[in-house]
Amino acid sequence: MRITIIGAGNVGATLGHGLARAGHTIAYALRDPSDPKYAPLRSHALLTTIREGVVQADTVLLATPWGAAEDALAAAGDFAGRPLLDATNPIGPGLQLTLGHSDSGAEQIARWAESARVVKIFNTTGRENMAAPAYGGAKSLMLACGDDDDARAIALDLARELGFEALDFGELRQARLLEPLAMVWIRLSIVLGRDFALGLLRRDGATSRDERG
Ligand SMILES: NC(=O)c1ccc[n+]([C@@H]2O[C@H](COP(=O)([O-])OP(=O)(O)OC[C@H]3O[C@@H](n4cnc5c(N)ncnc54)[C@H](OP(=O)(O)O)[C@@H]3O)[C@@H](O)[C@H]2O)c1
Repeated sequence: MRITIIGAGNVGATLGHGLARAGHTIAYALRDPSDPKYAPLRSHALLTTIREGVVQADTVLLATPWGAAEDALAAAGDFAGRPLLDATNPIGPGLQLTLGHSDSGAEQIARWAESARVVKIFNTTGRENMAAPAYGGAKSLMLACGDDDDARAIALDLARELGFEALDFGELRQARLLEPLAMVWIRLSIVLGRDFALGLLRRDGATSRDERG
């Protein structure tokens, strides 16, 4: 699959490396693809402008700071129905969520990118777990929500290829829970450091709709 990642910072580059290793064709969509700081990424990916990157993609991943998301999506132009995987968290001053309860960052992303099929995913764990989701025999948990079944399935498959235990979390409005869950991870990282992940313990039979097939 051709995956374009908008933003090549901690999250974008980590997921890009992993997805390239899984066999996908990665492009990083950047404000300035000629910036020498991004040259090492040419080892596993193409570097392109934001608009061109979206045109060339099967699936797009957004990994910019929240404050840059609206501009990045405006630069992207028409998504023409492409899945848009939203890894951002709407964090503002004082490390607080700027949206919540009756709205979410993901729903705002969907309003800014009306022509995209938005899925919230990859926002609830640290970049270290994106690089290495396994803890011995256990897997870090990754939850995904979005209104389009196919786009959500694509996102869940990519998370599984990276090594996560990935679960379908329902419609996009469930991002109202996933974004506060990211704050739980961040709060725990202040207490524990970053070498931990959230996981799921289940008794036999506790399977989700997508796992039952
Ligand atoms: N860090 C984590 O562990 C983690 C975990 C889960 C979720 N998240 C969320 O993921 C998002 C990215 O976090 P990060 O830690 O990867 O940030 P980061 O390291 O600061 O990287 C941000 C990237 O976005 C690009 N960018 C900034 N403004 C842009 C714009 N207007 N248009 C296009 N690209 C722009 C930057 O490129 P330039 O070189 O052009 O500035 C950079 O490549 C945030 O929303 C964060 O809350 C982070």
